[in-house]
Amino acid sequence: MDNIKKIGNFKDWVDPAWREEIISKEGRPGIMAEWKGRHDVYNKMIAGGWDPSVVYWWHYQPQHVSFTLPTPPWLKEGCKIKWWFVKLIPGQVNPLHTDSKEKIKLYWLPLQDYEFGHVFLIDNQLINDYVLGDVFEFNGGNFPHGSSNISTSVRVTLVIKEYLE
Ligand SMILES: [Fe+2]
Repeated sequence: MDNIKKIGNFKDWVDPAWREEIISKEGRPGIMAEWKGRHDVYNKMIAGGWDPSVVYWWHYQPQHVSFTLPTPPWLKEGCKIKWWFVKLIPGQVNPLHTDSKEKIKLYWLPLQDYEFGHVFLIDNQLINDYVLGDVFEFNGGNFPHGSSNISTSVRVTLVIKEYLE
């Protein structure tokens, strides 16, 4: 777990309306075709049987929601960040991939308590020891990760990318 650490619980910072809004509407469709040229593993995945046109997950960037995210309390005011939410309705997946080699830190925050069937794999670990508002820090995005929802409830997570340079 060297690359992953839980830095605290920030449930008080989370507005329950974020999750409600995300559940209530469609964001940007998460399709594999968008990974062409962006993720090294793309060609291998398509060859392996992934369908480039299926909506496997839903993605929400600032332009897809009515709210703005206040500065996360564990970060310094004015730091350079990007954020997005990922929604997996039961049956959806975010295929295993590796993100950029940029100098970044990633923060991952679930918008509901862990539920059996909410699968999150990263850096050879299954992450299941969490509750709403926990924040996990990942040391860059340069290791394989992915998630799936084989439960009976929607799974919403927030990812914040902090640029270190
Ligand atoms: Fe990722």
